[in-house]
Formats: sequence, C-alpha cells, structure tokens
Amino acid sequence: MLSVKTFAVINQKGGVGKTTTVANLGAAIAARGHDICLVDLDPQAHLTLHLGIEPGQPPLSTYDVLLSDASFAAATMLVAPHLSVAPAVIDLAAAEIELVTTVGREQILRDKMAAHLPYEFAMIDCPPSLGLLTLNALAAADEVFIPLQPHFLALQGLGKLLETVSLVQRRINPRLRVAGVLLCMYETATRLAAEVVADLRAFFDAARGTHVPWANARIFEHYIRRNVKLAECPSYGKTIFDYEPASNGAQDYTMLAEEFLAVVGAAGGPAPAPLEASAAPVVEPNPPQADAPAEAETPSPATGQAGTPGQA
Ligand SMILES: Nc1ncnc2c1ncn2[C@@H]1O[C@H](COP(=O)(O)OP(=O)(O)O)[C@@H](O)[C@H]1O
Ligand SMILES: [Mg+2]
Repeated sequence: MLSVKTFAVINQKGGVGKTTTVANLGAAIAARGHDICLVDLDPQAHLTLHLGIEPGQPPLSTYDVLLSDASFAAATMLVAPHLSVAPAVIDLAAAEIELVTTVGREQILRDKMAAHLPYEFAMIDCPPSLGLLTLNALAAADEVFIPLQPHFLALQGLGKLLETVSLVQRRINPRLRVAGVLLCMYETATRLAAEVVADLRAFFDAARGTHVPWANARIFEHYIRRNVKLAECPSYGKTIFDYEPASNGAQDYTMLAEEFLAVVGAAGGPAPAPLEASAAPVVEPNPPQADAPAEAETPSPATGQAGTPGQA
C-alpha cells in the first residue's frame, strides 16, 4: 500500500483528454490545498509541457526513476503551491525496450513510489497504449480514472482496457479499482453522447456486486464540455486556471475537483458512497453497492458478450 492515494489516468486511445484532465484536475485539487503530484509517464511529455516545463530541462525525469537508481522524490519538482510534477522526457519511449530483460519491470514505479512521499494524491498521465509504461502506472495505482470522449467508437476500446485492468488486479495489484469514467469534450446537445452514456451506465450497473475491479465504478457527474480555451492553454505552458479562469473549461474542472474530492479522493477512505440524487445533466446516482458478491466469474468485455462496451 502506497502512502499516497494514486490514480492512473488511462485510455489507450489518444486525444481523449487524459493529459488535459491530469493537468487541470490536478491544478484544481492543488488550489483547494491538497498536495498532489502529477506524474508524466507519456514519452510525448505533453503534461510536462502543459505545466510550463521544457522536457529535458529538469535534471531528472520519470525515465530516470524507471531506468536508474534515482528515487521518485528526486525526480519531482514543485510547479505551484501544493502542485508537483515528475516530468517526462522523450527518452521514455525507449524505456519499454531497455527494460525488457529487467525482472519485475512492471513494478518499478510502484516500488519507487512506495517511499514516503509528501503528497495526499498522485495522478499518473499515461501514454496512449497498454504497454509497459501503462502497466507500471496500473501496478502503482489504487484507482483507475478513465477519460472518454462520448462518440460512436468511444466504447470500443473500453473492453480491452478493462481486461488489462482486471489482469493487473489479479496478477500484480489486488487493490486496483476503477474509480470511474470522465466524459471529456462532451457535446451537450448531441443525442449520441447521451446514448453512449446510457450504454456505459448499463455496463457498469451490470457489474455492481461482482468482484470485478469496476464493480464500484462511476460515471462522474460533472463532465468536461468542449472548450477551445482548454485546447489553447497547453501551448502557453499554463493550466486553464492561469490561462482563462473564467472559461467553461475552468468551471468544469473546478466542479469535477469538488466531486473528485467528495467521492473518490478521500485519502485512505472507504469505497465511495453512492452519490445523492441531483439534477445534474448527465448521470444518475449510482445504485447502492451490494454487499454479497455475485458469482466470481469475471465478465470479459473484450470478448464480445452482448451489452458490453466492446460491442458498442
Ligand atoms: N474539453 C476540451 N475541449 C476542447 N479541447 C480539448 C478538451 N480536452 C482536451 N482538448 C484538446 O484535445 C487534444 C487532446 O487532449 P489530450 O488531453 O492531450 O488527450 P490525451 O492525453 O488523451 O491524448 C489536445 O489538443 C487538448 O488540448
Ligand atoms: Mg496525453
């Protein structure tokens, strides 16, 4: 068990809002006085750039954490009050190959992050693949956070993603849970988005009371609308709160941070309680969690059972 409540932000699809979410949700959480470390595990180093750091400038990066005896703490830097980052470099792309003969190579990040770290939360920005870097994030994490763009093909990859989470949970990280799905670049007016959300909800509801890691997963009530300011701010090396604090993007990530802290962010706390019913536009409250586990059969969303995201 790591001392820091750790979230892996994953989706093997690129361009769904992972990095935007880690940067801006992280900043919103820090702004509320919670110490948080954002971990850039993507060789593209977009998170690093988003936070105004030139990849390669800091003396150490997540590459050094994985490939040398550098500690995790040594690779972190404070970028704003309560907000730290462990930056990435392009070299990280080679890590998968360089580690190929290393025993326990999926668990290096977890071992390094097991040291005492002065944060309440850590949030790991993953590359758009389910390779070794993402496996390291899943091994180090308590919870999986899945940004998703609700369009026609959005649910296709979710089966494969959940299959990977399930595998990691069974083989290397028994405590791993899926916190939930965050809808990014949401087009409020489209019927399609509502249909995707309905499919998603039906899938998660079917898992309540089972032993799968997503048995308590939620669809976050606060979604992130498409907002051009969110797309602009990375090129200025600023979070949305420094770039355009009055934008819809800043508002959406602020609301999400409140929800995050209330329902999944309670450090070391029990499993999230069901949300109260509300007039929120997207999501209905999650049903209470059943105590009695159902048959231990792990649903396998990637294998094409009817009604699973893999089929959407
Ligand atoms: N809510 C949003 N509205 C508009 N553009 C967004 C939004 N979220 C992300 N973007 C932009 O979409 C692109 C992909 O987002 P990003 O967070 O980098 O995705 P990922 O990390 O999953 O690849 C980026 O150019 C980003 O600035
Ligand atoms: Mg990214």
